Parts: sequence; structure tokens; C-alpha cells
Amino acid sequence: MLETTHFIDIDDISASELDRVLSRAAAIKAGDDETRLPRTTLAMLFEKPSTRTRVSFETGMTQLGGHALFLGPEDIQLGHGEPLSDTARVLGRYGDAIMARLFDHGDLLEITEHSTAPVINGLTDDAHPCQTLADLLTIREHVGAFENVQAAWVGDGNNVGQSFVLGCAMAGIDLTVATPPDYDMDDEVLAKAERLGRAPTVTTDPETALDGADVVYTDVWISMGQEGQRHEKLQSFEGFQLNESLLAGTDAQVMHCLPAHRGEEITGDVLEGEQSLVWEQAENRLHAQKGLIVELLDA
Ligand code: CP
Ligand code: NVA
Repeated sequence: MLETTHFIDIDDISASELDRVLSRAAAIKAGDDETRLPRTTLAMLFEKPSTRTRVSFETGMTQLGGHALFLGPEDIQLGHGEPLSDTARVLGRYGDAIMARLFDHGDLLEITEHSTAPVINGLTDDAHPCQTLADLLTIREHVGAFENVQAAWVGDGNNVGQSFVLGCAMAGIDLTVATPPDYDMDDEVLAKAERLGRAPTVTTDPETALDGADVVYTDVWISMGQEGQRHEKLQSFEGFQLNESLLAGTDAQVMHCLPAHRGEEITGDVLEGEQSLVWEQAENRLHAQKGLIVELLDA
């Protein structure tokens, strides 16, 4: 069982709990852990679209013998004026856990204040910790033991990147982050990484980040809700695309949380190339979240 009730960012669990969740996920994936959660319901609240998060949680709950409910904003009274606090109170009384994908991170914290059931972050504008679990599982499987891994983040200092920074700090992965000057990670996230034991090296030069990297990770430049910033962001991210020229001379394996915008943050050749781990990463969302759910719900 985990100490925390809620999983709002990756550092809600300790480094040893992180190791336990990943080991549990690996055992479930290998068929060596047949834990089941009969009659367990996960309420899934979505303000933003999703393929992987929605389908991996729903499939995972089915495979564990439980059930997941998809609740889009228009499907429930939340989209028609009912306060979030009331929604949280009611969902927490029906479900065994709530997973929510929201814009405002503060709204997710508000759900935790009113739900009697555990709350899982399915992505907010600030964090994507379930993605980090899958990322770390993928690195351990395909890149190596965390203490020997040198990782690079190249791109936006966004939700996926921020949780990855914290996850690397907890796992002991040596990370360099390259972002354009106006799109860096939050100072608070970097300070937290330092407190967790390992702040990333920060640069605005992608080639510096790639120097010696075993794995390089990028994400979209225009996240959900940022469509109005498209023009200025495309200009600012020039030179940050993961393409064959940037990767020439490195043998870094390539990560992307997906969905990918081929021709923007990554080329189709790199995404589909031999060094790409993206499909393993996507699959690992399923296994990692099953590990999280069984540990969180004390099964
Ligand atoms: N990586 C990820 O969270 O994908 P979805 O937006 O499809 O859920
Ligand atoms: N940074 C992206 C991640 C999508 C999974 C977004 O927030 O849109």
C-alpha cells in the first residue's frame, strides 16, 4: 500500500514506493502477479481529449476485474453548472477511485479536498505523473538501470516534461533539459527536483542536452489548450525538432508520450526509426497504471 491517498504528481510517492509500483507493473506485465480488483469502479473525468489515458485505464480496470466509467464534460452535470466540489463529493461516494484529466491543476487539488476516494492525475496543464510511470518502466526495460542512464528532454517545459524531471530526480537518472528560453520548466519544479536529490542540468541548446544521452524525450510544442499560441511557439521552437540531423552522431533512443505531430517536434523518420521507444512507452501506460492502481487501492 502507498502512504499517499491521492496520486497528483509523481513525488506524492517516495522513491522506494516508485520502485515498488514499477516492479509491480513489471510483474503484472509478465503475468507473474494475478491480483484482481473485483467490483472496483474507477470514475474517469475528462475535460480534454485522450486516447492512451482513457483506453489504458479502462482496459486496465477491465483486466483487473473492475470497471471504469468514462465521464466527459458534456455527459455529466459538471458541464451544465454543477460545481466541481459537488461532483467530487458524489463521485467519491460511488467509485473506489477517481481519475481526472483537467486543464487547471488547482481544480484537481479541489477534487482531492472533496472526494473520499483516492484521486489520480490523468494529466493537468502542470503534470502528467501516470505518463512518467510508463516512461520510467520503459527506460528500465529498454535503456538500463536508472543509475547508469543519461537522459535528455528536448522541447517544451510542459506537463509531461515537469513530471519527467521529478521522476528522473527520484529514480536517480542523470537528466539534461533543453527548452527555448521562454518555455522552460517552472522554477518550483526544478527546486523540487533538487530537494528530491537530483536537479536536471538546464540549457537552451538541444545539442548540449544530446551530448552523451542514452535516451532523448520530446513532446508536442502546442499542448491541449495552447492552440492560440501556435504561431509564436512554432517560431520559438525552431532548432528543437528531433530529426536525423539533430540526432546524427548520437545513438540515443527516442521517447515521445504521443500524440505526436510529425514534422513539428519530431520527424516521421525518427518517430518510426529503429531507435524509437514510443510504442513500448504507449503500451506501458497500461501496465504501469495497473501497478499504480493495485498499490494505491491496497490489493
Ligand atoms: N500520452 C497521453 O496521455 O496520451 P493521450 O492524450 O492520448 O491520453
Ligand atoms: N503536453 C501534451 C501532452 C498530451 C498527452 C498536452 O498537454 O497536450
